[in-house]
Amino acid sequence: MVLVIAHRGASGYYPENTLKSIQYAIEMGSDIVEIDLKMAMDGQIVLMHDDAVDRTTNGKGLVKDLTIQQLKMLDAGGGERVPLLTEVMELFEKSTVEFMFDISSPGFEEQIVELIHKQKFDTRSIVSGAHNPLKLIKLLNPKLKIAPSFDIASDHSIMETAAMGAGIFNCHHASISRDVVNIAHVYGLQVIAWVVNEIEDVHRMIEVGADGITSDYPDVVRRIVRSTRA
Ligand code: G3P
Ligand code: CA
Repeated sequence: MVLVIAHRGASGYYPENTLKSIQYAIEMGSDIVEIDLKMAMDGQIVLMHDDAVDRTTNGKGLVKDLTIQQLKMLDAGGGERVPLLTEVMELFEKSTVEFMFDISSPGFEEQIVELIHKQKFDTRSIVSGAHNPLKLIKLLNPKLKIAPSFDIASDHSIMETAAMGAGIFNCHHASISRDVVNIAHVYGLQVIAWVVNEIEDVHRMIEVGADGITSDYPDVVRRIVRSTRA
């Protein structure tokens, strides 16, 4: 069955990268919850997509220039707080959902690998995103699943994914075709398409044989996947 991946949690309904968006993503039947990670000034890892807190909270400034104490005072939407990665792991320790930890900047590869291991998340974690941090993460723990992200699918990007020891070709949906999926499968890769928010695009990704669909609306994707028995 096609995997349903909630983008920044169920971010079409709840503030992105918050405990609430994760909780509802799980309740909506997501197989995997994708969340974005950044490192705060005091070295702890928090959930945040942008470098700055301005777009998603009532605060201002770069995450790397703010302490956890400062970040915790911010409203991340509807009274939600900016979660620490450790809080997510503790709260969802007993859930069977998998997590895709998306990283766009280097500098905290060792912390992530250590935290995933310490919290026993090794077999339910995928680390996605920027290629250089992922290469280091794969060196630090060759068993961890990685999924380098690509904007455009091509033979080259598929081969690069395979060469990194990744099991997942993680790409924007627009250029994913049946040929792309077939080539990725020849290399033993699963294909995950992001960010698929239009119903016709969900159907197209199912038709071309994508293995996973990342969406802000995981309930909609789940319903279509079930109804098409994809
Ligand atoms: O896995 C990639 C997907 O999450 C899209 O990237 O970081 O812009 O949300 P982003
Ligand atoms: Ca992301």
